[in-house]
Amino acid sequence: MKKLSIVCLALLLLSHLPAAAQNTSTRGLKDYYINYFPIGVAVSPRSLTGADAELITRQFNSITPENAMKMGPIHPREDFYNWAAADSIVNFAQRNGMKVRGHTLCWHEQTPGWLFKDAAGNTVSKDVLLQRLKNHITTVVNRYKGKIYAWDVVNEAVDDASSRVLRNSLWYQICGDEFIVKAFEYAHAADPNAQLFYNDYNTERPEKRERIYQLLKKLVDAKVPIHGVGLQGHWSIYEPSENELRAAIEKFSSLGLKVQVTELDISVYPWEKNRRAKRPDENDSFTAEREQQQLEQYKKVFRIFRDYKNVITGITFWGVSDRRTWLDEYPVNGRKNYPMLFDQERKPKKAFEAVVSFKQE
Ligand code: GLA
Repeated sequence: MKKLSIVCLALLLLSHLPAAAQNTSTRGLKDYYINYFPIGVAVSPRSLTGADAELITRQFNSITPENAMKMGPIHPREDFYNWAAADSIVNFAQRNGMKVRGHTLCWHEQTPGWLFKDAAGNTVSKDVLLQRLKNHITTVVNRYKGKIYAWDVVNEAVDDASSRVLRNSLWYQICGDEFIVKAFEYAHAADPNAQLFYNDYNTERPEKRERIYQLLKKLVDAKVPIHGVGLQGHWSIYEPSENELRAAIEKFSSLGLKVQVTELDISVYPWEKNRRAKRPDENDSFTAEREQQQLEQYKKVFRIFRDYKNVITGITFWGVSDRRTWLDEYPVNGRKNYPMLFDQERKPKKAFEAVVSFKQE
């Protein structure tokens, strides 16, 4: 009896301690940011078991399939959908009470071979392509209706070159700019409750930001069902600057759109546009200097995210830990990168502490 009342007293005291004074080792990113926005992570089915799964459920409350819902993997033949990987990710989220961001319904990369061609191998007409897009979006969105709260509907439609707004992709060559409007309409019809996003990279570079803004403004003015813009957030220790990031968030949200950072990682190298192999003499270790620069960059961008919590509705990391990241192969093949908040042993890096050390409101 006495023992029991001591335990009860201890529990009572603990529940009255401020969150920060409780055992910090059990608190994940999602807990520190509970009053701000969900904190997500991109996953493949193989990270849903073992140590990765433990890290994921402790730290994050939202997940995005890294590849499993892209058109190539999920719809490899016109009459066949490969649901296994995507289902396993959505089921994992449901079991663990996590949100899911769907990624992505219409993109010019990782498309299936059949998409742009007819049986004779000729390029399809606009009508056929839009019908295929409609079938794809309707089927995929419908399957996960009520389980996926937000979709990246169109990915990377804006060109890299400043001379044009839209990328000269097969989507554009066959449909003109109509494929963008249609993709949003099909997604909205399939799930009127889903939040629909346009997603892109280099959204903070002023020149590309302006062209993305033009596209978004056109969509908003035409009352297309678009609710937000995804800043991919493939950043580095060199960019974006504080002003660039603030300007992008302010500019896009001035259209009444919500903002999410959808693919966050902070490379320790400057951005390079062209692919190449690692040079033999290239130092790709995680030096103390890189560690410090990355910590400063993470600290800065999260401070800015918190400042805009009224318009930011989610931050998603593009990977679990430095053990494996797409940046180990891209754009420099074979060069190790260290872009995440958890190291190769899945331990929190110093940058983690910088991201969670702030005064909770
Ligand atoms: C883009 C895509 C992502 C992913 C990354 C590289 O940002 O949106 O799905 O393919 O490139 O991993």
